[in-house]
Amino acid sequence: MISDVRLLTGKAELAQAARTFRTAMVGLPPLGPIDDALIDRLFEPDRTWGAFDGETLVGTTDSYSGRIAVPGGAWLPQAAVTHVGVLPTHTRRGAATALFKAQLRAAREQGEAAATLRASDARIYGNFGYAIANTSVSLEVDTQRARLRAGLTYTDKIRLIDSDDAWAIQARIYADQPVSRAGVITRSAYWWDFQALRQAHSGTPNYVAVHGDNGSETGFVRYHPVGLDSWFTSSERTIVVDDIVAYSPAAYVALVAHLLAVDLPHRIVFWSRPADDLLPWLFEDFRSVRVSAARDETWLRLLDAEKALTARSYAGQGSVVLEVSDAILPENATRLRLSPEGAERTNLSAAVVTDVAAVSAAYLGGVKWWQLAQTGRLGDFDRAAVETLDTLFTAPALPHSGTMF
Ligand SMILES: CC(C)(COP(=O)(O)OP(=O)(O)OC[C@H]1O[C@@H](n2cnc3c(N)ncnc32)[C@H](O)[C@@H]1OP(=O)(O)O)[C@@H](O)C(=O)NCCC(=O)NCCS
Repeated sequence: MISDVRLLTGKAELAQAARTFRTAMVGLPPLGPIDDALIDRLFEPDRTWGAFDGETLVGTTDSYSGRIAVPGGAWLPQAAVTHVGVLPTHTRRGAATALFKAQLRAAREQGEAAATLRASDARIYGNFGYAIANTSVSLEVDTQRARLRAGLTYTDKIRLIDSDDAWAIQARIYADQPVSRAGVITRSAYWWDFQALRQAHSGTPNYVAVHGDNGSETGFVRYHPVGLDSWFTSSERTIVVDDIVAYSPAAYVALVAHLLAVDLPHRIVFWSRPADDLLPWLFEDFRSVRVSAARDETWLRLLDAEKALTARSYAGQGSVVLEVSDAILPENATRLRLSPEGAERTNLSAAVVTDVAAVSAAYLGGVKWWQLAQTGRLGDFDRAAVETLDTLFTAPALPHSGTMF
């Protein structure tokens, strides 16, 4: 029985939430003792929810406040939802449902126009208006085969930084980057702190190289080796790129050139890149890069569809009246006329009717309206209007975040 769902307060409750989440997730690597210091590093205040059976905390979720870049370059306030877990003794009794409803409503009331998350199970979040909004790929470079194309221009202004001191500089370079595609999110101090904590407990070395002059860097890459047990003799030595930020194509090439200059690895794995990444195009032999995995990245849920659809830009020509319904947040329902001039509320009849999940899928431009139409995810729709929506929602680059949380 779930008797109560409320915001958690105080370090003891938050520590219990951390334990509940880790028990629910079963296989997370250890982070050391769950003490007050850890709690301060993990939880943004007043954003952690708990579900109780009597006095016992049996389920939890929390979120970080931040922003997500939308097509056209504007930033939308968002809640980055994470740490979702219900104890195995209390699943399928509506704990997660009650938690999500409370969390989504509170985020909307705080002015957050979207919630996003990364899902370890793809069967849950569609129930709450979330939808997959983009795909992320893992790219694997065969270092024996990979030769950068002649004629690429880049500088060799690369410095290796002692990895213990490197978090602040990575955070600064990340925060100052020009945003080149929708889906990029801001990273809070909590997020960076958590990376440092995880790294400290990983038992694996990691390396950070930055590009550009001291104080005005234009990119960085952080990477670590895998397969340490057989590193000396292996013919499959691999380094994994955990994070890479480049302000320009030239900075990206310089960072890739640095990775290729690391002598021992046979393989470089870029674990999360956009599906239209430049990487394969940088090499003489396109097939020196292989897509080794493709997976859903951003799960998006619009909380204020009107604010969100007004914030993004639209391409091409034509206009469509789109009606959005929302079973969980009825106040999110809206009817808007979308055109290259923007979005405006209208009383005209709708050419396309959608629930919040479908418009959330299409919002960043990573899922096409025709895909939603042809898989029964739209309500009433006019075929020509769906085509116009796809034109309006087109963006030059596919959306991608590159931030796991
Ligand atoms: C996923 C989890 C949070 C769901 O919590 P829960 O309290 O059991 O969920 P609810 O009882 O509120 O059910 C929510 C809805 O999702 C569905 N659902 C939940 N887990 C599901 C699963 N594993 N497979 C299929 N459907 C599932 C439920 O059927 C329900 O849909 P319905 O309302 O149409 O019946 C919980 O099972 C859990 O903690 N799992 C392990 C950790 C985890 O996967 N966390 C998610 C990290 S991204």
